[in-house]
Parts: sequence; structure tokens; C-alpha cells
Amino acid sequence: MANAPIPLIAGNWKMNTFHNDGHQLANDVAERMMNRMGPPVDVAVCPPITIAGSLCAFLAPTPIKVGAQDCSQLANGAHTGDVSAEQIANLGCACVIVGHSERRRDHHETNELVRAKAEAVHRTRMTAIICIGETQEERDAGKTIEVVTKQLEESVPESCHSGNTVIAYEPVWAIGTGRTPTSAEIAEVHQQIRDLLFERFDYDGFAIRILYGGSVNEKNAHDILRVPHVNGALVGGASLKSDTFWSIIEAVPKPSEVSAPVRVKA
Ligand code: PGA
Repeated sequence: MANAPIPLIAGNWKMNTFHNDGHQLANDVAERMMNRMGPPVDVAVCPPITIAGSLCAFLAPTPIKVGAQDCSQLANGAHTGDVSAEQIANLGCACVIVGHSERRRDHHETNELVRAKAEAVHRTRMTAIICIGETQEERDAGKTIEVVTKQLEESVPESCHSGNTVIAYEPVWAIGTGRTPTSAEIAEVHQQIRDLLFERFDYDGFAIRILYGGSVNEKNAHDILRVPHVNGALVGGASLKSDTFWSIIEAVPKPSEVSAPVRVKA
């Protein structure tokens, strides 16, 4: 048995919040975080880029990290409207979500592009939170493992290691729907992701955090966070209210409650 990585609870605010309510939300979570006594947990919020810079400054004295929701794969130049990983790092952000299914859907992002974005994040020494997950049709067709395997193989660059990469398994059909897979279904996919990371990155693959995302809330977080190889959660809707986000943070297991079964490489 190896020690499981410290859980990460990351809030994805999507295209929500303005300056004032965003700062209020961050303040409410930060205050509780500063006085928290529970088991170890890392917390990040990923606000819209419009307030990421001011939140970086605001949250700098707290343990809460700030992330962006996307970045360009390019470093600079004539790309109107795009924001580079370098510019995001310069704001003080610690991480960037790449390959979220809403970007894959709305902006036709491919695995290849997602990999290039993750490489851009690594170039700036931030952490890439790389999202993968199957659609309802793919699950119904029994293709979940196949789809997730391909996405992981193609979206995860060689520059990954446990210090700069988090994988988020987010079934597309569970995002914002209130529907979640069973614990057994989550366990099956997370085990597959762990095996693939082990094959590619050897023992460091055990230290790469694998988050579950998709309709995580204060009611289901306790069970989801105890599924083997679930090392935290990427939370959308429930991260927009400090009470529910806080309940999810409080649901992280003690290190003694989780085990990370390690296979020995042949
Ligand atoms: P949700 O979103 O928690 O609202 O389902 C999760 C996500 O898209 O990251």
C-alpha cells in the first residue's frame, strides 16, 4: 500500500460571477479554510479569467489556489481574444483546467489540442487539470473504458508528472445534470486511469491525482471521495455557494480511511 495523494477539491465557476460576488464567495471559503482543523486537503477555485488576477492577489495569504478554466496552446502573438498560459501564470494562477467537455463541445477541441494546451501549462510550471469523460451515447454503447483510454493516451503529454498534472474524470452526462455514476462505475474508470498512468509514468503515476467531476454535491461527496483512486473532486454548480462547497471540502476522508493499492511492475 502507498499513501494516497492529498485530496484536491477544485471549484470550476465556469462563466459565472462578477467581481463582487466572486470575491465574496472566495472570502467565505478562505475564512473557513484558515480556521479548518480537518484532514489534509488542497483547495483551488477556477473563476472566470476576468477576476482571476484580483482573486490571486486576494487569496495569496490563504492556502487556496487560483486556476484558470482554459488557455491557448500558443505563447503569444496575433491571436485575438486568446489568453496564453504565460499570461495566466503571470496573474499568479497555480493551475489551468484544459480539455473540459464544454470546451471540447463548444470549441471543437480535440485530444491533440488539449495535449498542446497541457504542454503550454507545463511550460509555465503551473498544474494542468486535464479533463476526460464519455458521453451518454458512449456509455450506453459500452464504450466508456475505450473512450476514456483514448482520451487519456492522446490528451496527456509526456511532460506530465505528479507535481504538474491532475486528471479529472468527468462523464459528460453527469455534468450539471444531478445524475452521477455509481461508486462501482466510478471505481472502474478510476482504476483504468490509474493503470494507464502507471504504465506510462511508472510509480509516479500513483501520485498523479485523479479527480471525479460531474454533479458532485454535499450529499454524494462523502461516498464519492472514498472510492478507490478518487483523489478529490472537480465541482461545478456546487462550488458557487460557499456552504455547499465547504461541505464537500469537509467530506474529504482522513488518510487512514483511504488506501491506494499499488501493483508491482513485472
Ligand atoms: P457540475 O460541473 O458539478 O456542475 O456537474 C462539473 C464540471 O463541469 O466541472
